[in-house]
Amino acid sequence: MDKIVSTREMLLKAQREGYAVPAFNIHNLETVQVVVDTAMEMKSPVILAGTPSTIDYAGGEYIKAIAEVAANKYNIPIAIHLDHFEEIDEIKKYIDNGFKSCMIDASKEKYEKNIEIVKEVVEYAHRYDTTVEAELGKLGGQEDDLVVDEKDAMYTNPDDAVDFVNKTGVDSLAVAIGTAHGLYKGEPKLDFERLKEIRSKVSVPLVLHGASNVPDELVKEAISLGICKVNVATDLKIPFSDAVKEFFKENPDANDPRKYMTPGKKAMKEIVKHKIEVCGSANRY
Ligand code: 13P
Repeated sequence: MDKIVSTREMLLKAQREGYAVPAFNIHNLETVQVVVDTAMEMKSPVILAGTPSTIDYAGGEYIKAIAEVAANKYNIPIAIHLDHFEEIDEIKKYIDNGFKSCMIDASKEKYEKNIEIVKEVVEYAHRYDTTVEAELGKLGGQEDDLVVDEKDAMYTNPDDAVDFVNKTGVDSLAVAIGTAHGLYKGEPKLDFERLKEIRSKVSVPLVLHGASNVPDELVKEAISLGICKVNVATDLKIPFSDAVKEFFKENPDANDPRKYMTPGKKAMKEIVKHKIEVCGSANRY
């Protein structure tokens, strides 16, 4: 039985109960194993996120099959999510192949075009009970010296967010409130007033991208103000690869993937655990 679920129920439950579902970017068997094993131990719902380059690298069918094995094995909601997909036809292809959750990222487009693209994906996805996330505004903007006009142009405008959700019928909305993908130069400044206003006006679950390297208190505050999905990639990749590098430093002749991958998995597991705690998603199932 195919137990891969969409993100609908898990995000609505998180929204009702005031926590966030972590979405971890995965790349291969090992990273999926770490995420699902840890989520199961902690009884947390979890989203396995694959960007277009991950899906190209690992193969959509392989990644979906691995996620399916996990979903059938474990008694927690596990979703496999297409992250930051920009091509409508690609998304449709993977929906046809059984993916139940996707993000169409048309945030680079002008507002009206973004709506048009997202609407087309939503119409298609909903026929197959697949949920759709979209992004309004642009990530980045953590620089201290960002002037207000620039900030307004990049960050999600709360009134536009209402209009965008109504016109597209999207299931969840990624908001730009000051986070960026990757590492920050200084401490990021999140625009919590903006988040509050968006939350008060928009009813669908809100998503925080770029949660790596953001202090835990800020992520927790964002969750308390209505974020119900937290995306993490970089904070997992760094400890995984650092541990593998360290292993090779100590064992320069190593050549067995089972040996050199294991410290990477262990290091990644600690971070997955910690992020689940920060999200408050443990013991929810
Ligand atoms: P980070 O790499 O900053 O964690 O961003 C992840 C992300 O938002 C994936 O969509």
